[in-house]
Amino acid sequence: MELPPLLFLSFCFLTLSGLTFAAESGTPVARVTVKEDADAILPCSLGTSETIESMVFDWKKDGKQVFTYNNGTHHNNDLEDQSAEFKGRVSHFTEELKNGNASIKITDTRLEDKGNYICIFPKSQSGDIRFHIELAVGAAEPSVTNLDQTNDWALLKCVVKGASPKPTVEWWDSNNQTIPSEEPQVSKKGERFYVTLKTNVTKTDRYHCVATQKEIWHQAHTEINVRLNEPNTGLIVAVAGLAVVLAVVVVGILVWCYFKNKKKRQEETESPLRETENQH
Ligand SMILES: *[C@@H]1O[C@H](CO)[C@@H](O)[C@H](O)[C@H]1NC(C)=O
Ligand SMILES: *[C@@H]1O[C@H](CO)[C@@H](O)[C@H](O)[C@H]1NC(C)=O
Ligand SMILES: *[C@@H]1O[C@H](CO)[C@@H](O)[C@H](O)[C@H]1NC(C)=O
Ligand SMILES: *[C@@H]1O[C@H](CO)[C@@H](O)[C@H](O)[C@H]1NC(C)=O
Repeated sequence: MELPPLLFLSFCFLTLSGLTFAAESGTPVARVTVKEDADAILPCSLGTSETIESMVFDWKKDGKQVFTYNNGTHHNNDLEDQSAEFKGRVSHFTEELKNGNASIKITDTRLEDKGNYICIFPKSQSGDIRFHIELAVGAAEPSVTNLDQTNDWALLKCVVKGASPKPTVEWWDSNNQTIPSEEPQVSKKGERFYVTLKTNVTKTDRYHCVATQKEIWHQAHTEINVRLNEPNTGLIVAVAGLAVVLAVVVVGILVWCYFKNKKKRQEETESPLRETENQH
């Protein structure tokens, strides 16, 4: 699959940081992408580097209370109206409050955590300020193994487990060209996809297994080096050298035979003369 360069760049950026910002109808939106069961940091900051220790900030998702902080009280100490699905799974960064940082961490993300979050400063100096953060859970992460190898080929396996949405999985060579592979084996449990893709390679190279989930702007690579004892240049040079030596020897023998025959024939044509001379 070929990606337009720009799209590809943004994929690369995503792979590096897991976080990107995009302007959507004038509202800055941060996008965070994580594997299921990984922790997710949802970023939010007033950007003024003023302390927010005595302020209020509120995280919501679809109207549900994700996390509230109010002048030192919050959902992990005295506040009580936190939505059950987030209980004990969300924390803020106490040390970061003095830098105006209201980011939160959700531990052990589940597929159900995906969606749109809002970070709200309801009583800031400039009034109600909101930030939109989109969380995608289920990022594909390929793992690769060399199943079997001979001098001439290697059988590589790529496995992507529990990805959501369904990833496209491909094998690429070191030039980022898709190489032929077997039919992918795909299974599905609930919303999670499990993909296995094997390829039989016959060249020494660095191969990548690439999993792409366009819907969540995610692409991840895992690479594997394969070294095969192909008919290498050393062997080719040796064989060629031997062939040249053989050719020289054969030609030498032929030339020697030719001249020897010629001499013999000369002797044969000369000897009758000599015989007649002798007869005189
Ligand atoms: C924050 O709480 C402290 C007491 O812990 C109180 O003195 C202060 O007035 C409160 N600040 C705001 C803005 O509510
Ligand atoms: C806010 O704190 C989090 C957690 O330490 C960190 O990852 C993030 O970069 C901080 N954001 C800013 C704008 O400093
Ligand atoms: C292949 O893609 C990666 C990014 O995924 C890039 O760093 C690398 O330079 C590319 N290689 C070639 C040969 O285009
Ligand atoms: C890989 O390909 C080679 C030749 O293309 C073939 O001889 C070999 O049996 C294949 N290996 C597997 C495991 O399919």
